[in-house]
Amino acid sequence: MSIPQLADFDRIVFFTGAGMSAESGVPTYRGHGGIWKQYDYERYACQTAFDRDPEGVWEFHNYRRGLVGACRPHRGHDVIVAAEQQRPRATVVTQNIDEMHQLAGSTGVTELHGSLWKLRCEACGATRHGYDSPLAELHCGCGAWWRPAITWFGDMLNEAAVQSAIQQIGQCELLVAIGTSAVVYPAAQLPRIAAANGAVLVEINPEPTPMSSMYQHHLRGPASEMLLQMAEGLELPT
Ligand code: APR
Repeated sequence: MSIPQLADFDRIVFFTGAGMSAESGVPTYRGHGGIWKQYDYERYACQTAFDRDPEGVWEFHNYRRGLVGACRPHRGHDVIVAAEQQRPRATVVTQNIDEMHQLAGSTGVTELHGSLWKLRCEACGATRHGYDSPLAELHCGCGAWWRPAITWFGDMLNEAAVQSAIQQIGQCELLVAIGTSAVVYPAAQLPRIAAANGAVLVEINPEPTPMSSMYQHHLRGPASEMLLQMAEGLELPT
């Protein structure tokens, strides 16, 4: 079966996970070199840990800010930006918190799990979006700890983001899932909506996933190379 070409579709959703950023140098969570192999998420990435040891959680979070802050988007991100600019409606629904898509120039990004670079204060409701790394001032002006505005295990997802994702995925003709292990819910089940609507589904991942059988196309390689194979007819930045 020939590889679907982005230029042949008007409504496209790129559904991305940590593997989309792997070639940028951002570690994935699972698989070889995955973060959760080195760090216990129950100590560093959940509300209970934050309530118990905010300093420890911030130490891990600032470590990640430093790591991700040094990373840059790759050619696969450029393909997605080109599709956004040259197709009537191409958008990104991402599980990633690294803002690599935005750094590459994507403007239609729905973040299901928040952003590494966003903060909120649970005491006074203040929010902050900044790229300082490490974050020096860990307390809001009201004196409470800044809380990383990311979805930790056990958190509810941002309802507006989920509804927007469902609307985009429900209307797309082509869904390209890139670099997700498809094991974390509710995000993992969102591509089912596109399948139910008769969209064409492409899975870009060097490895199979529990959702692979739902996809008509499996591009078993790294995101950048596989996205370039879908980019005939798109003008890419030099
Ligand atoms: N190109 C494409 N895919 C890749 C690449 C690459 N270069 N390298 C690795 N992958 C694939 C792996 O095979 C794996 O299936 O990317 C996937 C990464 O899986 P995870 O690390 O589990 O990332 P993700 O699916 O985004 O995790 C979902 O889990 O920890 C939570 O909130 C966190 O958003 C995250 C969620």
